[in-house]
Amino acid sequence: MGRFFFIHRRLHFQPMDLQQTLARIRELTDALTEHNHRYYILDDPSVSDAAYDALLRELQDLETKHPELKLADSPTQRVGSQPLAGFEQLTHSIPMLSLSNAMDDEELTSFDVRVRKDLELDQLDYVVEPKLDGLGVELVYVDGVFTAGSTRGDGFTGENITKNLRTLKALPLRLRDKERPIPPYLEVRGEVFMGHADFEQLNERQLDQEKQPFANPRNAAAGSLRQLDSRITASRNLLINLYAPGQIDNFAVESHMEFIQALKDWGFPVNDLYELCPTIQNVIQFHNKLEQNRENLEYDIDGTVTKVNRLDYQNRLGIRSRSPRWAIAGKFKARQEITTILSIVPSVGRTGAITPVANLEPVHLGGVMVARATLHNQDEIDRKDVREGDTVVVQRAGDVIPEVVKAILDKRPAKSQPYFIPDRCPACDGHVVRLEGEAKHYCQNISCAAQIKGRIEHFVAKRCLDIDGFGTKLVSQLVDENLIGSIADIYALNLEQLANLERMAEKSALNIMGAIDSSKSADLWRLIHGLGIRNVGEHISKVIANKYGSLQALGEATVEDLEATHEVGPIVARGLVEFFKDSDNLEILGKLSQHGLNPIIDVSARSEGIFSGLSFVFTGKLEHFNRDSARVLVESLGGASANSISKKTDYLVAGPGAGSKIEKANKLGVKILTEDEFRTMVGAE
Ligand code: IVH
Repeated sequence: MGRFFFIHRRLHFQPMDLQQTLARIRELTDALTEHNHRYYILDDPSVSDAAYDALLRELQDLETKHPELKLADSPTQRVGSQPLAGFEQLTHSIPMLSLSNAMDDEELTSFDVRVRKDLELDQLDYVVEPKLDGLGVELVYVDGVFTAGSTRGDGFTGENITKNLRTLKALPLRLRDKERPIPPYLEVRGEVFMGHADFEQLNERQLDQEKQPFANPRNAAAGSLRQLDSRITASRNLLINLYAPGQIDNFAVESHMEFIQALKDWGFPVNDLYELCPTIQNVIQFHNKLEQNRENLEYDIDGTVTKVNRLDYQNRLGIRSRSPRWAIAGKFKARQEITTILSIVPSVGRTGAITPVANLEPVHLGGVMVARATLHNQDEIDRKDVREGDTVVVQRAGDVIPEVVKAILDKRPAKSQPYFIPDRCPACDGHVVRLEGEAKHYCQNISCAAQIKGRIEHFVAKRCLDIDGFGTKLVSQLVDENLIGSIADIYALNLEQLANLERMAEKSALNIMGAIDSSKSADLWRLIHGLGIRNVGEHISKVIANKYGSLQALGEATVEDLEATHEVGPIVARGLVEFFKDSDNLEILGKLSQHGLNPIIDVSARSEGIFSGLSFVFTGKLEHFNRDSARVLVESLGGASANSISKKTDYLVAGPGAGSKIEKANKLGVKILTEDEFRTMVGAE
């Protein structure tokens, strides 16, 4: 223990009282460490909370007066400290692996067959442990003192979360050497997780503070551990269990069971629900027992981990890609519970997609209260024949939102009716339609309250109307303050309204007004793209802008006419016709036009362009164009451009670095041009 020697030597010439203070600090640190161990690891406290707090306060006082005497393993560090600017990366000296999965008993049996075959053994012992549903971490101890800790990250490099880990009450800051000597360098791996009670309390606090609640205890643990301010981590009551070695110097045991014993001897918290199993049948029995028992645990487990007990066998089996061949995760089936559906309500997402959601009689499902479950879409409702008032089976599999699995038909109330997604939007009363070939219903109204922010953000975005300075925050402010309720309202904004917004400088307001004004002369394709019609992206917008030349002409097009357009399929065609049938949408288009947004392309002139009827593909690095400008140029000359080569392609324009497209062009007999040749064609040279 060189560190203590160093402190003593340095203090040799100090006045006595400082040495006494140090001795007291050491004494208090040791006493608190021991009490902590008894409380958090052995579950057998020997002092009252008040006595513990008194010791802690005394230590804190001494450390405040003599910060230079604070020990590396001081328990006062558990309260957290000043926020970090960001996490540093830490590389694991041995990669942290993942586990392959066994989905059922049969797959566990095959694992055993393979292991015994590889080892040429008739029998071997396994250790089965719960698979804790939290975050994998690695802890490093030098001379028994906790010096660093990191997240698993990608398995090779994780984030340095030492300060946060220090706040975990069950994590030993100094290892015990009473039962077993401490290796000079020791890495151990384990899981940080959150108990159900703490999870529910945390979520209540989040809601009180109008913050988003966590979806499950694992997310809550992850969110709490990856805090830049370790004081927040300290307030979250995270748990930790250790279960695997990293690199350990001067240490040898023969089995995983012995390793678990060593962890306990050193004072690490170890999950007690492990069992030594001499056969795979025992493993399966234990797995099934834990699966049944999981509801009674105070924390989430998502399966079991079965490990070959003998370490020499583990070494012989080795590693395959990124998981050991000597261990396997046995997954639990999704947790199911029975409850009743109080009502079914349509919920509108930011894209206008409508999802039917079942409001449930609240039920405990794997540690969390579930009051809502998704019914996905109308087809799912029909297939499962789920109705309001039904008694249903709900399930939560891992992370996903709970879902209704099936209705229990003999419990169905007499007067029940099938459920249909309404034809009016619950958020705006707009038309709800379901297009052929699509699973979801959509609200068609482009001014729908539930969609409006998302739609406006899209409208002003770079690849649409490109209104500079009109960011997500501004959209949010304007909608929340009722200054805009549709894309057309953007053009009714005045300088005063903008300048009066919180945190808006007059100059920025002026710039934004200027940007709004210039967007009025945007190309037609930008306006079409900006409308956010389903399945009408940038490319299709250009295609139809070039064909129809104005919004009015596009609005009058029939499904057949649209479908006859190169690259426009039946779904896009029907979506467009539906869009232009909607009276709310027509009103918005009318307003846009009144504000001066009515771009028109002279279609007759354009169709006479030199590239009329020709299709181009660009590849490789071009000197004078980027893909976009080249495409716009071709289109302005009446041609079309595509991303990939087909029989319909007339020219491939290839710059340096062009790859497989050249081969394909040769195969299909497509003419290949250099950039210079292309520039000659367009008259640029
Ligand atoms: S052993 C080489 N034991 O599961 C095997 N992992 O899918 C290293 N996990 O990243 C892991 N409980 O975060 C092991 N009792 C347990 C576990 C456990 C949970 C996690 C761990 C690992 C992941 C692998």
